[in-house]
Amino acid sequence: MYSEKVMDHFEHPRNVGEIEGASGVGTVGNAKCGDIMRIYLDIDENQVIQDCKFKTFGCGAAVATSSMATELVKGKSIQEALEVTNVAVMEALDGLPPVKIHCSLLAEEAIHAALWNYAEKNHIEIKGLKKPKTDIHEDDHKSDDDRDVVAYD
Ligand code: FES
Repeated sequence: MYSEKVMDHFEHPRNVGEIEGASGVGTVGNAKCGDIMRIYLDIDENQVIQDCKFKTFGCGAAVATSSMATELVKGKSIQEALEVTNVAVMEALDGLPPVKIHCSLLAEEAIHAALWNYAEKNHIEIKGLKKPKTDIHEDDHKSDDDRDVVAYD
């Protein structure tokens, strides 16, 4: 059901934790399943993401997508990080089962929320970044029975 990469990132999530004094922090949840993802970004003066960490209270797919998303945005400029969509994260994980696609949306939205927070703190506008939602929830979310892990450090 899950690719080897998904299982690897689920069992050995990268970049779990938090960044003290982070440049931007974004938290997004899905009210229907109760899953929550928080992303921390450390962004330098050249607007390059030097570090990224996450905490996810959620299903295995949410943990794997958080882990992969943090790997993908590290070292990128804030503009490049905007291109790390949920589709890009899923592709990097060799796909997700259809019922789990929405989990990857949490990762995309949490990155956007962290970038939004960074932009607000620095009074700048990030081209192409829309105000993120704090709750992503889909009417056809059917995975309430699939919450199986907590990835807090
Ligand atoms: Fe809610 Fe995966 S994010 S089931």
